Amino acid sequence: MSFANKTIIVTGASSGIGAATAKRFLSLGAKVLLVARNKEKMEEMFGSYNANQYRIYPFDLTALDQINTFVSDIIREEGPIDIVFNNAGISQFGYFEDSDLSVLNKIMKLDYFSVVTFTKAILSHMIEKQSGHIVTNTSVAGLIGSRNRTAYSSAKFALHGFFDSLRSEVAKHNIHITLIAPGLVQTNIGKNALTKSGHTYGKNDRGHANGLSAEAAAKQIVSAVKRKKREVIVAKWNDIAWLGIVLRKYFPWLYFELAKRIKA
Ligand SMILES: NC(=O)c1ccc[n+]([C@@H]2O[C@H](COP(=O)([O-])OP(=O)(O)OC[C@H]3O[C@@H](n4cnc5c(N)ncnc54)[C@H](OP(=O)(O)O)[C@@H]3O)[C@@H](O)[C@H]2O)c1
Repeated sequence: MSFANKTIIVTGASSGIGAATAKRFLSLGAKVLLVARNKEKMEEMFGSYNANQYRIYPFDLTALDQINTFVSDIIREEGPIDIVFNNAGISQFGYFEDSDLSVLNKIMKLDYFSVVTFTKAILSHMIEKQSGHIVTNTSVAGLIGSRNRTAYSSAKFALHGFFDSLRSEVAKHNIHITLIAPGLVQTNIGKNALTKSGHTYGKNDRGHANGLSAEAAAKQIVSAVKRKKREVIVAKWNDIAWLGIVLRKYFPWLYFELAKRIKA
């Protein structure tokens, strides 16, 4: 599997799935452009890699009105972009009835609107060169709903609707769309999740520690990109996500009964 001569943008590259996927692309010969807010963390994390093979672009993706200029600057400096991995995201823990509406706004802004805005910015470039691949990290929470995740699930479901629609529009330009829906993966997603008041949750006690390693997730993600898959679920074989997906589809009454009871 080689990505030599490919230029790939990875957002959320300073941690977890984004960092592991960026490293895997690097090991397969790609030039990788790393996007996240924490520049120092990316410098530390990628310091041992060939400096000619990657570039760090610190950026806050919630600055929606600056995304177009940011993407244009990257293209001007780096040349054609082959693949974008929209990966940056933030989760939540809290019932909707107790949550401040600002939590919903913050999550939709990063998890949905920044992805759509980034896609809009890169799309004209990909249409012009009549090729490209847009890969987006959604979640199993974008396929089935669960307690404590109304905002997160809204954003991730919306990504599935957006990209399933866009896929049909851009196929004629030789642009591929891949959706990655992970179950539990060992990252800082739990720690960084927003509480009902919009503070950072700060702990990793929601089962992520028992999930797939970020490296194993990255391996499956890169394989899905290589095979230009439309949608893949990335999860450990014993992840409860699988059961949830099957029950939601074939036994919805049972799924919704269990969803009231299972800790999420
Ligand atoms: N881990 C899981 O179990 C799981 C399951 C399903 C889906 N996912 C999805 O996987 C993706 C990656 O999450 P992760 O699990 O790797 O979590 P993570 O370890 O918390 O990483 C999140 C990444 O997003 C970046 N980010 C956050 N806010 C940003 C902003 N405003 N601008 C730019 N970058 C920002 C962070 O970098 P900075 O802080 O440096 O900006 C970090 O690199 C997310 O979309 C998440 O929804 C994860």
